[in-house]
Amino acid sequence: MEVSEAIRNRRSVRRFSRQPVTFKEIGALLESARWAPTASNTQAWQFIVTMDPGEKEALISISPGIFSVPAAIIAICVDQRRVRSATERGGEGELCGLMDACFAAQNILLAAHDVGLGTCVVRSFHREPARRLLGCPEHVKPELLITVGHVEGDPPKGPKRRDLSEIAHLGSWGAPFTIEVREGAGPTGVDETERVTGGEAGPSQTGPIEAALEESVTEEAKPDGVVSRSDSLRRSLVFYLCFLASSARGLFTEPSSYGPLRLVDACSRLIDIMEREGLSSPALDRVKTIIESGKLSVTEDRQRFAELIDEIACIMLNDARE
Ligand SMILES: Cc1cc2nc3c(=O)[nH]c(=O)nc-3n(C[C@H](O)[C@H](O)[C@H](O)COP(=O)(O)O)c2cc1C
Repeated sequence: MEVSEAIRNRRSVRRFSRQPVTFKEIGALLESARWAPTASNTQAWQFIVTMDPGEKEALISISPGIFSVPAAIIAICVDQRRVRSATERGGEGELCGLMDACFAAQNILLAAHDVGLGTCVVRSFHREPARRLLGCPEHVKPELLITVGHVEGDPPKGPKRRDLSEIAHLGSWGAPFTIEVREGAGPTGVDETERVTGGEAGPSQTGPIEAALEESVTEEAKPDGVVSRSDSLRRSLVFYLCFLASSARGLFTEPSSYGPLRLVDACSRLIDIMEREGLSSPALDRVKTIIESGKLSVTEDRQRFAELIDEIACIMLNDARE
């Protein structure tokens, strides 16, 4: 695939199928990351790959910005000691470390798109618990997560871009810079290669919790192979609490519209747990469908999102009163 085509057609993927990816595929992405530019060639990044279902479940529970279970999550971390030593040589320290992580991320996104894998950059995750979960020493900070997997359904369209004439200036501020931009070709397919990790291909999931819950049952099997219902419910609820706490932490820095999104997403996640416990209802299933199909509209259309909240609250109220 031409680089220009990859740049033009890559989109953030937020719905992944359950098809796994291989170590070889992930290795190729990391190899691309390694060739990204870094300030003073510091190369202060470290990449931690999570493919184990139980580990993914834990990481997702503190990452409100992940909306579906990917085959793999790459945490791009910055080694502050290396950054500091670069600062002493005249660099800009932490900021450059973060920028380096971003360039590495972009290489990963494009390399993944080139082989037909979907990705999404995720910054909405709880950094300190993530650092501990990933076993990073204190001076190594996770800065970005990249979700990687096979796209579920049609490739996403992605939000509109501002016109070049609004953002480009020739020579000085306000002097127009306009060119004709050729429309890029559509995303290409990919050859299937040997799959070695991430579980069997199976039915797709629409919520982040569904597959994670299934996986948690097998992961948590006791020596006699039996997982009690209360153990599994407890685990689901504790992960749910992690999601709430991490979402609360994010509200200090995230755009204000993310607050309603996180709370509504929390409704959907709780319905997942209720479904699994046989406590859901057709009305709650409908609420979940409404949330899943509309929740990402929050950044584009606040009014529509407010109406979605009104609608689900009314449905849930009726459900409780029946
Ligand atoms: C620094 C950064 C942080 C982001 N964090 C998240 C995130 O936490 N969750 C998410 O779903 N998307 C996240 N995104 C993806 C953006 O929402 C997405 O790139 C943007 O809407 C443009 O869409 P496109 O990638 O499909 O072109 C992030 C992107 C960047 C660059």
